[in-house]
Amino acid sequence: MKIAIDGPASAGKSTISKRVAQKLGFTYLDTGAMYRAVTYLCFKEQIALNDEAAIVAALAKAKISFGPMKQEGQQVFLNREDITKPIRSVKVTAAVSQVAALSKVRTALVEQQRALAAKQDIVMDGRDIGTTVLPDADVKIFMTASVATRAKRRFLENQQKGMPESLTTITKDIEARDYKDSHRQVSPLRQADDAVVVDTSNLNIEQSTRKILEIIRQKTKV
Ligand code: DC
Repeated sequence: MKIAIDGPASAGKSTISKRVAQKLGFTYLDTGAMYRAVTYLCFKEQIALNDEAAIVAALAKAKISFGPMKQEGQQVFLNREDITKPIRSVKVTAAVSQVAALSKVRTALVEQQRALAAKQDIVMDGRDIGTTVLPDADVKIFMTASVATRAKRRFLENQQKGMPESLTTITKDIEARDYKDSHRQVSPLRQADDAVVVDTSNLNIEQSTRKILEIIRQKTKV
């Protein structure tokens, strides 16, 4: 079975998708982590972020793989290097939407994502899962929340990690990422016609997880 969960940055997708996958006993795949891994690869190999041919060539030689779930998120490896933490850095976060806009990078990653989905029951989260990666997914969720809610959540999360960004900076960053993700030419962030919208503005993690599990049960009778 394939569950697609899309939506804008900081709507709670990865936290909730991970819980949904655990409850169902399915594999969880954070596709954003793959775009982050490619961005990390560019910095590591000093490839310009707009040099699509060089990025694709480097990606073809590299292996992005996933390990077990950790507190920081899904464990991610680039070849043998554990890049779980560095792909969440401010530098990678600021650059990733530029790399995610490159069509050949997307083609290569989409192919890897489909191959992973073909092997197992999966909950996949991203921006284009329901529209492009898995158009035949059994259930498609579009998870959203207001900019103010998402900014507040990110602010509290950052405070816990000792990152002192102001609420105003975070709000601007979220708005800028939303704009870039939904206005790029290739596979922009868009709700699939057959997706169910879940607005988590007034729901906590538990409630959001329950709501999505309910939708999955209704749609698939599992
Ligand atoms: O969800 P995230 O913040 O880790 O995503 C990182 C970036 O990758 C973000 O700019 C959106 C992009 N992305 C994408 O274009 N397609 C996906 N399936 C997942 C993420």
